Amino acid sequence: MDSRPVYQLADGASRPRRLRTTPAIRRLVSENRLHPADLILPMFVKEGLEEPLELTSMPGVRQHSLDSLLEHARAAVAAGVGGLMLFGIPAVRDEQGSQGDDPDGILNRALRLLRDELGDDTVIMADLCLDEFTSHGHCGVLATDGSVDNDATLDRYASLAVAQADAGAHVLGLSGMMDGQVAAVRHALDATGHQDVVVLAYAAKFASAFYGPFREAVDSQLTGDRRTYQQDAANGREALRELELDISEGADLVIVKPGMPYLDVLADAAAASSVPVWAYQISGEYAMIEFAARAGAIDRMPAILESLVGFKRAGADAVLTYWAAEVAALLSGQT
Ligand code: PBG
Repeated sequence: MDSRPVYQLADGASRPRRLRTTPAIRRLVSENRLHPADLILPMFVKEGLEEPLELTSMPGVRQHSLDSLLEHARAAVAAGVGGLMLFGIPAVRDEQGSQGDDPDGILNRALRLLRDELGDDTVIMADLCLDEFTSHGHCGVLATDGSVDNDATLDRYASLAVAQADAGAHVLGLSGMMDGQVAAVRHALDATGHQDVVVLAYAAKFASAFYGPFREAVDSQLTGDRRTYQQDAANGREALRELELDISEGADLVIVKPGMPYLDVLADAAAASSVPVWAYQISGEYAMIEFAARAGAIDRMPAILESLVGFKRAGADAVLTYWAAEVAALLSGQT
């Protein structure tokens, strides 16, 4: 007679732990893997800097001079990252964000430099938005009543797109959340011979407290918030509508942003999308892990890798992350 207590597993019972017994078995049955090419490095370049400047709210991340930008871009490419996403910080700002489409504006100069030096060895992406360039810090131009004027902004985005494409960007990252921005940019690019320039649409971009450190990174001039154009954190279904619109307007790639608080939106978007879906692990997510690790509360690199594979599990094809170069080097066995 079987004398085992009733709570014991019967012979032949499922034992999922069998597949966790050794590192080799765990590696073999891993459903998702990180690859260096899945990781895209956002970089900041600031006009007039002689030396790179580390951000206090993002330890390890710098505002670059043109020289240090190129040096770090080369290192990231050598580590195997999938691409680079550039943000520019001009010395002078105005209401219209004129430095954004000035061919000599810092972002366009940086794009030209990287494209000249790196060619097609990597994928060079540009943030296409006005907030870094405007004196008021909004992502669009303002109407006389101070509101963000959607349709006037589309003309500005079209002009930025042509300037960035002329400067050599392979991919334009439309992060401004204006209605119709994908169609406006696609038309402008096609009309100027830039049919091959890729449109990456921030389809679902939420108004988020986690952008905090980014404001330091770009010396943001914003007072107030972006709630009239970025999405409300409560709305997942609306994100799918934004996704559908962007794809129908011609988006080649889409992003869900921020990352960790919106993994459900990412999973839904990945299931619904006919184009690749990327995640953006934003500045505040970076800061949380870095500062928690510095405080001794968590183990830094395991936490970073867990956060990144979480995006893959949720369905992201690639991830923009400030750890891209470091993690790519680790995955490539270079460190
Ligand atoms: C807008 C833009 C922002 C970020 C990327 N593009 C800021 C915002 O929408 O307020 C945030 C990125 C980050 O926090 O890491 N140009």
